[in-house]
Amino acid sequence: MKSNIEIQRIEKSKIDSVDFDNLPFGSVYSDHMFVCDFKNGEWQTPTIEPFAPISLDPSSKIFHYGQSIFEGMKAYKDANGNKMLFRPLDNCKRLNKSAERLVIPQIPEDIFMDGLKKLLEVDSDWIPTNEGSSLYIRPFMFATGNGFHASPADEYKLVICTAPSGAYFAGKVKVLIEEKFARAANGGVGFAKAGGNYAAQFYPTQLAIDKGYNQVIWTDDNTHQFIEEAGAMNIFIRINDTLITSPTSDRILDGITRKSILQIAEDNDIKTEVRKISVGEVVEAAQNGNLKEMFGAGTAAVISPIAGFGYKESDFELPELENPFAQILKKKITDIQTNKTEDPYGWRVFI
Ligand code: PLP
Ligand code: COI
Repeated sequence: MKSNIEIQRIEKSKIDSVDFDNLPFGSVYSDHMFVCDFKNGEWQTPTIEPFAPISLDPSSKIFHYGQSIFEGMKAYKDANGNKMLFRPLDNCKRLNKSAERLVIPQIPEDIFMDGLKKLLEVDSDWIPTNEGSSLYIRPFMFATGNGFHASPADEYKLVICTAPSGAYFAGKVKVLIEEKFARAANGGVGFAKAGGNYAAQFYPTQLAIDKGYNQVIWTDDNTHQFIEEAGAMNIFIRINDTLITSPTSDRILDGITRKSILQIAEDNDIKTEVRKISVGEVVEAAQNGNLKEMFGAGTAAVISPIAGFGYKESDFELPELENPFAQILKKKITDIQTNKTEDPYGWRVFI
């Protein structure tokens, strides 16, 4: 394993062309990217280089067999210029968990963390300070090695690029509870952040969008009776005063926001239950007036309240509460992330 990072700086920054007051999500990119290649059985000297297209052989296995995984994280800057990450080692560990399942080599934590910190130092001006904005970080690893033989590649690339970003959802979120398609199956790759999991969601999600919904809530592939998660976030359901979320499994991503929210809720006298929750229970609670809130939780989505859901041919609206759990929990987690409050958990990492 080689250490040290070679830095090639961009000649002229693009930053002046960016409107930091109107940031979209994930479509404006910072000046530099971190790149590290795996060749001859070892990770090579990493580089930080100008953000630019990557040239690949058409026979690279990424194109044919989809060996590709990613992570999503955020960097924040407070009013005093302090820069922070949120539980970054958890992302590195999850990347390696995904890597193992997709037969991609493990990335040593020091290469990942040192590279990430160096990249953020080089592009520190790109971390937004506006309320609700942050620097979205996208690490990804994929097969560059070539050959049409359907077997794992012998060469890979880890790239980390960043995008100053605003909210993932613009406006109210409406979800459709899926009754036919499945995102993941037992023994499959649902727990991994594999690119293919997202590709597989696009078709059913497009059908839902065509009907006026923003996201699909996936149900278990076997019976379609139990709530799993949404396309880009874990799901919390509040029935009366209890916040319920499905247990993670082979099929569900072990979300870092999800587990942070569970901890914060528990420490703030919000009753939580991690258990299977059936669609029938949610529909019945909606009909009885016991369904108080639903929200998604994820790095990109932060906490996104759900305004209503569709199931079979019916639509259900969620009530508009005075002081919803979603709002309380969102403030608590973002205050920790942005250094506005104490961090009793040690989740914040200054860079
Ligand atoms: N579930 C899926 C399918 C996701 O893509 C994400 C986003 O990363 C999440 C859940 C939430 O995970 P995290 O909170 O770690 O971002
Ligand atoms: C994230 O929240 O970081 C994700 O990776 C979700 C993504 C599909 C935008």
